Amino acid sequence: MSDTDLRDIEALDARKPDGIAVVTGGSRGIGAAIADRLGAEGYTVAVHYRQDEAAAADVVGKIVAAGGAAFSFAADLAEPDSGTAFWAAYDAAAGELRDAPVRILVNNAGIVVDGVIEETSAEDVNRLLQINATAPFLIIKEALPRLADGGRVVNVSSGAARLPMPGIIGYTMSKGALEALTGPLAQHLGPRGITVNAIRPGTTDTDMNAHWLRGNSEAIAGRVAARALRRMGDPTDVGDVVVLLASHDARWITGQIIDATGGERL
Ligand SMILES: NC(=O)c1ccc[n+]([C@@H]2O[C@H](COP(=O)([O-])OP(=O)(O)OC[C@H]3O[C@@H](n4cnc5c(N)ncnc54)[C@H](OP(=O)(O)O)[C@@H]3O)[C@@H](O)[C@H]2O)c1
Repeated sequence: MSDTDLRDIEALDARKPDGIAVVTGGSRGIGAAIADRLGAEGYTVAVHYRQDEAAAADVVGKIVAAGGAAFSFAADLAEPDSGTAFWAAYDAAAGELRDAPVRILVNNAGIVVDGVIEETSAEDVNRLLQINATAPFLIIKEALPRLADGGRVVNVSSGAARLPMPGIIGYTMSKGALEALTGPLAQHLGPRGITVNAIRPGTTDTDMNAHWLRGNSEAIAGRVAARALRRMGDPTDVGDVVVLLASHDARWITGQIIDATGGERL
């Protein structure tokens, strides 16, 4: 593709033509904040979830009530054929939109398993790698013909990939694998004007860490004290950075891993 063609693609991107923004794990927490913002930006948002249909319906309802467009679909990323099953479920839910280009793909769904190495089983590690790294790989792979030239891929990693946290070692390993996709894919998809970036959120108040964080003032104080920006993060703090990376303004950023921890342990 010539330089002029690539600039045409970028100009097209600036106009936000028809296209879908797909958010994995868009039903709760950070994913719900990302879906909400992308809906407000005017994208038709495909809200993926695993089993919490009501939560996904709430996200869709909120976007539609604000004048946007959205639909939801379910797929369990723990399954080995998660890429194929994901897009089959998407097609079934998208109806006549199934052939519309996917302009933004956010791989946000993820799980954490607590434990130092002695407490982490092979099964834990395999599950973490499957859901947090292999599934995004397969979802992107199967999405390649659907992705719009000039589109965006954003993978949600974790500050844990930078900050040693021995108590979530399997999770850290899985996010390292997810991050390793960024450079090669950015290089591979750059000729199509597609950017590929990853974001590292810090500890954020969501269901994922409610078991040790919510209502635990000591744990909250510890996290806050470790940050340059002295407060707990909420899902919109992360969602807004993802939307920034997905925007036209971020068209010259690719292959990067962006820290969004509020400056944790700088
Ligand atoms: N919260 C934090 O402090 C933090 C910090 C750094 C990075 N992150 C990363 O940010 C992302 C979102 O985290 P969050 O805190 O918003 O998580 P969350 O509130 O626990 O929500 C997780 C989302 O992922 C979906 N999901 C979980 N397991 C799945 C599976 N097997 N198949 C398909 N979907 C599945 C859930 O769907 P259902 O609701 O249907 O189960 C839900 O939509 C994750 O990748 C996480 O690693 C979070």
